[in-house]
Amino acid sequence: MKAFYGDLKLGILGGGQLGRMLIQQAINYNVTVKVLDPDREAPCRKLCDEFVIGSLGDYETVYNFGKKVDLLTIEIEKVNVDALEQLEKEGVLVYPQPRIIRLIQDKGLQKQFFKENNIPTAEFQVISSPQQLKESHIPFPYIQKLRRDGYDGRGVYKVIDESYLAKAFTEPSLIERLIDFEKEIGVIVARNESGEVKTFPLVEMEFNPDVNLVEFLISPSTLPFEVQQDAAQIAIKIAQDLKIVGLLAVEMFLDKHGKILVNELAPRPHNSGHQSIEGNVVSQFEQHLRAIFNQPLGDTACLNNAIMVNVLGEAGYEGPAVYEGIEKVLKCPGVYVHLYGKALTKPFRKMGHVTIVDVDREKAIEKARFVQQTLKVIS
Ligand SMILES: Nc1ncnc2c1ncn2[C@@H]1O[C@H](COP(=O)(O)OP(=O)(O)O)[C@@H](O)[C@H]1O
Ligand SMILES: [Mg+2]
Repeated sequence: MKAFYGDLKLGILGGGQLGRMLIQQAINYNVTVKVLDPDREAPCRKLCDEFVIGSLGDYETVYNFGKKVDLLTIEIEKVNVDALEQLEKEGVLVYPQPRIIRLIQDKGLQKQFFKENNIPTAEFQVISSPQQLKESHIPFPYIQKLRRDGYDGRGVYKVIDESYLAKAFTEPSLIERLIDFEKEIGVIVARNESGEVKTFPLVEMEFNPDVNLVEFLISPSTLPFEVQQDAAQIAIKIAQDLKIVGLLAVEMFLDKHGKILVNELAPRPHNSGHQSIEGNVVSQFEQHLRAIFNQPLGDTACLNNAIMVNVLGEAGYEGPAVYEGIEKVLKCPGVYVHLYGKALTKPFRKMGHVTIVDVDREKAIEKARFVQQTLKVIS
C-alpha cells in the first residue's frame, strides 16, 4: 500500500462535509484525494487534488471515476453499487465493500440482516403495497420508513392510528413498532482488513422535548457501564458479521427497560462522531483512513467531555449564508467552530457544527446552550 507517500490515490464518492473532514485528515497522511460529486459548489470542491463533477448514481460516471484511483470510499450511501462491484472485480479496492453498501441502502434488507443475525431491533414488517399496510400485523402506533433514500428524518412517518394511513408512503417501505425510548445512543466501530476491531465510546443524543429535536450530542456517556458495554458488543458483532472494512456507525435506542435495540447503520463517518475530532485521541475520520489502509486502529479513548451542536440554517432564511454571533462564540474557551463551506443556507440545512469541550460536564452543557442560542445562520 502506497499510503503516506503521496502516491496513493484515494477516491471519495460524495463531496459533502463528511468528505471535507476526511480530506483534512488525508492531508496529514499525505494521501492524494479525488472527489466525485454532482454539485459544483460541494464542500470538498477546493480541498482535493481533483474534483470531478458528476452523478453518483450513474454507472459510467462512477466506473470511470473509480478506474483512476487505487482505493475508493464513500461519504454517502446513495451511489451506484453496480459500478462499484465491477470495479472491485477489476481489482480496485472498494471500502466499505459494495455488498455492504447495497445492504445498507435498503432499510428492508438491513432489518432482515438484523433478524437473521440475532441483532436486537424493533419488530418490523416489510410493506410492498398500500393494501399490505392496511393488513399489517404491527399494531398502532408504528413508524413507517421508506426502504430507500431516506435521510435526516425524511422518509420516516409516524402512524398513530388508522386516520394517518391516508398520508402514508406508497413506495416500498417497512413499518416497525414505535419504541418509547429513553434515549437515542450511538456507537461508531471500525474494522480493518486484518480483522482488528475497535469501538468509540458510546455517545448520547440529548433530546429537547420543547422543540422535538435532538439538541446536542454528548460524549462520554454517563449511562451505566453495562449499557455501554452491551452497546459496544452489539456494534462489534455487527462489524464482524458484516466483515466490513472501514467505519460503521450504529444508531441505537435504549428503551425504558434498559434494553438496546439497533435502529440503523451507516457504513461511513457519521454526524454522531464529529465530536471525536477534538474529544478523542483519534477522530472518526482518522480511524476510517486507518481502517481502509489496513493500518493499526487508533486509540478511541475520550480526552475530555465533548458536546457537538449542529449548526443548521435558521428557519425563514434562504440565500447566501451569514454567520451571526460567531465572534461571541469564539470568545468562549474550548469552543471549536467547523463551517462546511456551503455558500447557500436553507432552513435546517447542515451548515456546520461546533464542538465544545470542558473538563466539567455541566460547564460544557452550559457553553453548548450558549452556542446554540448565539450562533445563527441567516442570509
Ligand atoms: N421504531 C422507532 N420508534 C421510535 N422512534 C423511531 C423509530 N424509528 C425511528 N425513529 C425516530 O426517527 C428518527 C429517524 O429514523 P431513522 O430510521 O434513523 O431515519 P434517518 O435515515 O432519517 O436517520 C430516529 O432517529 C428516531 O428519532
Ligand atoms: Mg438515522
